[in-house]
Amino acid sequence: MIKIILTGVLLATGLLATAQNNLITNIGSRKAVSLNGTWQYIVDPYETGFYDYRYKELREDHPDAYWNTDVPTDRSEKKEHGYTDKYTLQVPGDWNHQKPEFVYYEGTVWYKKNFSYPKTTAGNKYYLYFGAVNYRADVYLNGKKLGMHKGGFTPFNFEVPATLLKETGNFLVVKVDNKRDANEVPTLNTDWWNYGGITRDVKLIEVPQNFIQDYVIQLKRPQPGKAPAKSPLAEGWVKLSQQPAANEMISIEIPELKYKKQVPATAQVTKLSINLPKVQLWSPVQPKLYKVLVSTATDRVEDKIGFRTIEAYGKQVLLNGKPLFMRGISIHGEIPQDVRRAYSEADARQLLGQARELGCNMVRLAHYPHDETTTRLADSLGIVVWSEIPVYWTINFGSAEVLAKSKVQLNEMITRDHNRASVIIWSVGNETPISQTRTNFMKSLITAARELDNTRMISAALEVNYNSGKNLNLIDDPLGEFVDLVAFNEYLGWYGGLPDKCRTTNWGTVYNKPLFVSETGAEGKTGFHADSLTRFSEEYQAWYYREQIAMLKRMPDNYVGISPWVLADFRSPKRNNPLYQEGWNRKGLYDDKGNKKQAFYILQQYYQDIAQKTGK
Ligand code: GCU
Repeated sequence: MIKIILTGVLLATGLLATAQNNLITNIGSRKAVSLNGTWQYIVDPYETGFYDYRYKELREDHPDAYWNTDVPTDRSEKKEHGYTDKYTLQVPGDWNHQKPEFVYYEGTVWYKKNFSYPKTTAGNKYYLYFGAVNYRADVYLNGKKLGMHKGGFTPFNFEVPATLLKETGNFLVVKVDNKRDANEVPTLNTDWWNYGGITRDVKLIEVPQNFIQDYVIQLKRPQPGKAPAKSPLAEGWVKLSQQPAANEMISIEIPELKYKKQVPATAQVTKLSINLPKVQLWSPVQPKLYKVLVSTATDRVEDKIGFRTIEAYGKQVLLNGKPLFMRGISIHGEIPQDVRRAYSEADARQLLGQARELGCNMVRLAHYPHDETTTRLADSLGIVVWSEIPVYWTINFGSAEVLAKSKVQLNEMITRDHNRASVIIWSVGNETPISQTRTNFMKSLITAARELDNTRMISAALEVNYNSGKNLNLIDDPLGEFVDLVAFNEYLGWYGGLPDKCRTTNWGTVYNKPLFVSETGAEGKTGFHADSLTRFSEEYQAWYYREQIAMLKRMPDNYVGISPWVLADFRSPKRNNPLYQEGWNRKGLYDDKGNKKQAFYILQQYYQDIAQKTGK
């Protein structure tokens, strides 16, 4: 029986979506035309197509603007820019790997795509959807600006006025600028490659006048420490794009459970509280997904949702009320053998397949939201996910606008994936230097995350206090007070000291919370063999893992898992040892060609032993 608590007004409770968010979710279930494929481009490092020679933004109708097409013919020969098939890029895809001159390029590239759109249905609405553009996107259609988005790893959409969309000859231009900036998120300094471009799918979406914009249906956590009931309570909401018509009804259907209920929509957001029939709970051992249909008289979306609960409870992480030990690995969203950003289902299968081969039941998607195919595949494979916004290292924590930008990315990350059973942790950052300003900034992000989603754990990679006392490394980062999962990165034996220092080192935290090692690792270049004291040799990396694992076996009883750094070698402009790195961070357990290093087998054995002991 579905018990509905209707919201006559938009309740300012955490469960309800923030009004300012116009993100359309579950794009795969919408009527859409793909705009992927070959786009023409102009590389524009001086932004000549955007500013005049006095560095003033060009008027929208200025013939020299690179978003304009209908330049008066008498000026066409004077026009000093143009798009031709001589200069093309593939979308989705970063530009760095597509042209040798773009490997290190940081600046503006103008992308242009012509497309036709069949007779539109009167009254329907149209949106241009981008899976991700790194970093800033200014979007124009037929010479009119639709909007601007910042943030390199989260989706966004702009409405296309129906009057602007033509049946033939549409001219879509996107100015992409991946310049790093001290006041952006991430900031100037990162240990990953600054891949620029339209890096994920582009679609033109067609939806009814009033459509299902977003929805969430997740199990409500029962009393702390308890497993969900046999017929568990699910909560959530359905958000329409505008106020409902009179007598508008919303239907929630789960065919496999023979479950269907209609509820009146009395506001733009209708809160749901649903007593589900007996469900098979989602877990890594049994990643059960149900087809869920959400519909109104004019719109219908179909999703696959797994039902489970996750919580930090005392010193443990409980999945469906049972202790979960996370055998993880950190992953960058990169396909090393092609030296490019990952974006496709095949890419997700490669990366998650390698993680499973290592024996993982968890992945830390570092240091930014990965693409939606990855989190949906993790749902299907039964791999729990740590998802993170790139509040990384030395962000400008004193800036209100940087906090606002961080919250936009947090909102987009959570909104896109709040129905993904695999996602159990939202991380608000990584290795941010401790100060009161930083802790206030991060606490504000944690509060925002909880308001958006109170069904998952919140975490961040915290700082370690190495001076707390003899051989005890303590996690007493003040931010630890506000997270659910106390996570930290350590490189004992790589950054300082030798791996045998692990033998006399102990770890602890001042917080009575679960403790998670979010990074540890050492570099090893495949095929470089020497004694174990020789840095960058496979033998050194293998020794590092042997010593680390021996130390991990002595961790305190709130140790709930680890996501070593890193699945595969990845590109970084900071790694310039001419013999062993050459622009690659070599901490991968796989190298950039997919070969396993000696250390892979050591960690794999550790995970096999744990899986045997925990029986999962
Ligand atoms: C840091 C950081 C990673 C980086 C790693 C390393 O902990 O979180 O992004 O790549 O160390 O030094 O390799």
